[in-house]
Amino acid sequence: AQVHKILILPGDHAGPEVMKEALKVLSLIQSHTSSTKTFQHTTDLCGGISINTHQTPITDSVLSLAASSDAILFGSVGGPEWGTTYPNPESGLLRLRTHINAFANLRPCRFYSRSLVEKSPLKEHVIRGVDFMLVRENCGGAYFGDKVEDYENGIASDTWGYTAPEIERCARVAGALARQMGKGTVVTSADKANVLASGRLWRNTVTSVFEKEFKDVELRHQLADSLAMLLCTNPSKFNGVIVTDNTFGDILSDQAGGLVGTLGILPSASLCGVPEMEKGVKGLYEPVHGSAPDIAGQGKVNPVAQILSLSMMLRYSFCMYEEADAIDAAVEKVLDSKDIGGLEVRTGDLGGIATTGEVGDAVCKVLEELLKK
Ligand code: NAD
Ligand code: IPM
Ligand code: MN
Repeated sequence: AQVHKILILPGDHAGPEVMKEALKVLSLIQSHTSSTKTFQHTTDLCGGISINTHQTPITDSVLSLAASSDAILFGSVGGPEWGTTYPNPESGLLRLRTHINAFANLRPCRFYSRSLVEKSPLKEHVIRGVDFMLVRENCGGAYFGDKVEDYENGIASDTWGYTAPEIERCARVAGALARQMGKGTVVTSADKANVLASGRLWRNTVTSVFEKEFKDVELRHQLADSLAMLLCTNPSKFNGVIVTDNTFGDILSDQAGGLVGTLGILPSASLCGVPEMEKGVKGLYEPVHGSAPDIAGQGKVNPVAQILSLSMMLRYSFCMYEEADAIDAAVEKVLDSKDIGGLEVRTGDLGGIATTGEVGDAVCKVLEELLKK
């Protein structure tokens, strides 16, 4: 059987809680596919828990484990007890992203079930049918440029820079995804070419990649600030693919959580290459949300984003499309159901009273049935 090596990094606060549910789903998938595939998984530390144990947010040994894995399933890191002073838990995640060169962060935004539309703060006719894939550049920009931290003298700066190759590879991921999503899929590139030098390089570079390599795909440009506004007033206008830089992508993907009403259902995949249908690409899979310290430890955290991140891993790293579709379908069915145990199987962020574990168990129960078929 084919062996897939997975590194599991649950992280802090809500991280381990939601990871537990994703691992239930993974073990179900494993028993279903045991004749053809074996998942070999190792669990290790990243974030605050690693600071507490090893005095560093990520050890060299975890970084090399990550480098030799086929995929990494990541929970979330950080919390008030570690604060923001460098090296904080979050910097462990940033090192991990660059260490494995996970340069394209895919953050899909859609309702995984029809009945969730009413959970959006937007009017139903505005939000219905929203379905876009945000591709966030993940290893460059302001996050990784040179920094000045002279706090004593009240001086600090971040360098927000890009090179053309960094933008090109990201544009190629956007173009490839648009092709996979089918004819007529539009790619919107978001930048601040009207203000930032890096924004002008971004726009010129994306344009030339599409002119040379994706003549069949329609490319549009939108200033990132007005995109933020239009995503609230007319989000479906951007159905298809949105490609943008690291900082804008971070902010816009949390805004996507606002569009659907909760961060609790939004997964992500940080890919180390251009996704292909026939060949898996290495990746780091994590929810868009953070460690939710305000609700962690009480069984209140929604595990759906973590479970859907696992589904993205099966899709992009292992080309297990049937299994990934089955997980997505099981999540949809659970969120739409009103009668498992007589109640809605949803956590509090979606207006329900189910616990994290109950949602995970319900997904597994439905998935088991789907896999039998
Ligand atoms: P957050 O995403 O953790 O939480 C924002 C809000 O959304 C909170 O009210 C939270 O309760 C809610 N929420 C988030 N995930 C949820 C879920 N699965 N189910 C239900 N509700 C959910 O953002 P924050 O509070 O700004 O950050 C907390 C910590 O997480 C910070 O240290 C931050 O740096 C870190 N963070 C880590 C990651 C990561 O590891 N990938 C991502 C984002 C933030
Ligand atoms: C995210 C998070 C991270 C980011 C932090 C925790 C480093 O907010 O994945 O969106 O800013 O990229
Ligand atoms: Mn973020």
